[in-house]
Amino acid sequence: MDQFFSVQDVDNLEEIVAEALALKANPYAYKELGKNKMLGLVFLNPSLRTRLSTQKAAINLGMEVMVMNMDKDGWALETRDGVVMNGTTVEHIREAAAVMGSYCDILGIRSFPGLKDRDEDYSEDLFKKFRKYAAVPVISLETGTRHPLQSLTDLITISEHTALTSGEIEDHLTSIPGKPKVVLTWAPHIKPLPQAVPNSFAEWMSRAQAEGLVDFTITHPKGYELDPQFTQGAYITHQQDEALKGADFVYVKNWSSYSDYGKILTDGEGWMPTNAKLGLTNDAMIMHCLPVRRDLELASEVLDGPNSLVIQEAGNRLWAAQAVLKRMLESLKRKG
Ligand code: CP
Repeated sequence: MDQFFSVQDVDNLEEIVAEALALKANPYAYKELGKNKMLGLVFLNPSLRTRLSTQKAAINLGMEVMVMNMDKDGWALETRDGVVMNGTTVEHIREAAAVMGSYCDILGIRSFPGLKDRDEDYSEDLFKKFRKYAAVPVISLETGTRHPLQSLTDLITISEHTALTSGEIEDHLTSIPGKPKVVLTWAPHIKPLPQAVPNSFAEWMSRAQAEGLVDFTITHPKGYELDPQFTQGAYITHQQDEALKGADFVYVKNWSSYSDYGKILTDGEGWMPTNAKLGLTNDAMIMHCLPVRRDLELASEVLDGPNSLVIQEAGNRLWAAQAVLKRMLESLKRKG
């Protein structure tokens, strides 16, 4: 593996989930693999979970880690080609990425979308250029359109409560028999948020559905349709109550409009999941990538309740990152 950007970078979902769960059971089994290898994490935006879990994953594998807060400590970055840099930008991505690639064996980058120009955000120009000029394996730490470490984590978390990984892991928690019904529901927010997390969750769950692992439903108000490239095969409804009926997992997330790009179209009254709403489900477990705005996006009674998986889910970020880093280190080792 020399890139982790989308679900397409994973050949077999069940294998990588099993690998992550094996690492969870035995975190230091590969502590020699990353010896004398350097991971560089580049953040153009804030982060708690991605920053800490990816560092810990690297340390578990014996790697050293450097973190660059590009937004605060770096030079203002130019990504356009052919421009005279006589404005506010100071360093071109061609040099910045190449230099960081010369210091590191693997790089990760987080870059949120501007939510102003859809074509620009969805072109993933920054990630592609970073990857090209860094010339080392690159992990997306969330970009304009996707958050693959989060989505792999979400699949791992769902699998811990189902039989997705064929019961190969000894301490596997198997409580839901058969194929679980997974529902992604839009929830209210006061700020326009990117579509990266729901796009990515939809992309991974659509693939899981195509492989017979889950049944996948998406619910949101009119106008919040995601880019169809991410939702192939999903059942999509504007009726949240209909979607929640019989759900085993409810994934809660706000996003801004894709069609009216970056806009908030409704205050979303009635869309915040509460215990009453979850009464419609099959005693569903509740997921959210965090951070979450309590009692705006998700009711405190749900977050603090027995069906909330949010802390377990955030903890699993470590094993997703470790599985991806392990695969990249093994590729580097094969190449010598
Ligand atoms: N879920 C997630 O990516 O969290 P952070 O933004 O804190 O990294």
